[in-house]
Amino acid sequence: MNMRYHVLGRTGLHVSELGIGGHEYRRWLNPNHFNIERDDKEFYNTQEERNTLIKKALDAGINYFDTTLKEEVESLGLALKKWDKRKDAIVAIMAIFPFKKLKDSPKSRWRDIILDEIEARLKLLYTDYADIFNVHMPEDNYTREYFTFVIELLNELKGMGKIRAIGASTHEPAFLAELIRKYDCFDTVMVGYNYFMKDAKDILFPICKAHNVGVVVMKPISWPYYGIPISYFQENRNIQYNYTPAQASIKWILDTQEVSTVVPSVNSIQELEENINTFSIKEPLDENILVECLKTALSEKGKEILKRLAQHPYKDISGYAKKALDGWKVI
Ligand SMILES: NC(=O)c1ccc[n+]([C@@H]2O[C@H](COP(=O)([O-])OP(=O)(O)OC[C@H]3O[C@@H](n4cnc5c(N)ncnc54)[C@H](OP(=O)(O)O)[C@@H]3O)[C@@H](O)[C@H]2O)c1
Repeated sequence: MNMRYHVLGRTGLHVSELGIGGHEYRRWLNPNHFNIERDDKEFYNTQEERNTLIKKALDAGINYFDTTLKEEVESLGLALKKWDKRKDAIVAIMAIFPFKKLKDSPKSRWRDIILDEIEARLKLLYTDYADIFNVHMPEDNYTREYFTFVIELLNELKGMGKIRAIGASTHEPAFLAELIRKYDCFDTVMVGYNYFMKDAKDILFPICKAHNVGVVVMKPISWPYYGIPISYFQENRNIQYNYTPAQASIKWILDTQEVSTVVPSVNSIQELEENINTFSIKEPLDENILVECLKTALSEKGKEILKRLAQHPYKDISGYAKKALDGWKVI
């Protein structure tokens, strides 16, 4: 097995350098995937495929699983239960917009709101603990009061063993760096970092290193446009590179010493295998493949590709392509 493991900062957890993100479920959802009802029939009909995918991942040594939506937790929970592997898996959970829920509720309900979110996810995981609970920073409704409340509660839950570590996910590395500098309240961070989006290396990773905060990288393949994999912008396939665009992205990220694990979403076994095979390639990475894909993505040709993708049968791809054409930038 070629999988390597890194210690995830102060959590002491040994995480596989390749993990898995949870967004493969977006295929059944619309581009505003946080707001849509799932298709139950489709969900359960396709669970067998995801069980197989998770088994393949576990067999390859992958032990880190990020989740956001309840569907992601439920599906992972079913697969881990089927293979009896919950104890071998490191699972990160989070709540969707918890600060908004606090804003819309009386203070007397706040504790229950957060506890209910966590309990619901633990139930879906058939477990009484989560390895990491991620708080998204900054959520639109961020206030210091909500933040302090949530962190204090999470610390309490950590003391009880209900969660093992407190993490933060962010699209704004500078903001998160500031919170860590001020409060030193996170054990891990999950941040977008890739060949196009390099800010975190200078802004966030040094403070993480100083405080022994573990670094998880999200969005490794979908850049420079949110939700659109860079592989769609590979033009000249006659040039032989050792790494595919997805593999090159993963390799480039993991060559950054501060990164412990990277969590690409995968929609198929083939994608998973391609990502796993990154570690069988012994040759050094030729970054030109990334340079070329990025150049195409940012050119007029890239715009043409986005226009084609805007007609893609998968709603997530067409939705994100339209947003990219509209100049949408993720916050
Ligand atoms: N908490 C947060 O705020 C937050 C936000 C964003 C992401 N995340 C986490 O980070 C994870 C990853 O982020 P992401 O899904 O936005 O972006 P990503 O992992 O960079 O991109 C995933 C997409 O890349 C494509 N892909 C995967 N393997 C491939 C391969 N070998 N070859 C070609 N294409 C491949 C797939 O799309 P196709 O099948 O279309 O090719 C897949 O949907 C998420 O699942 C989630 O766990 C968290």
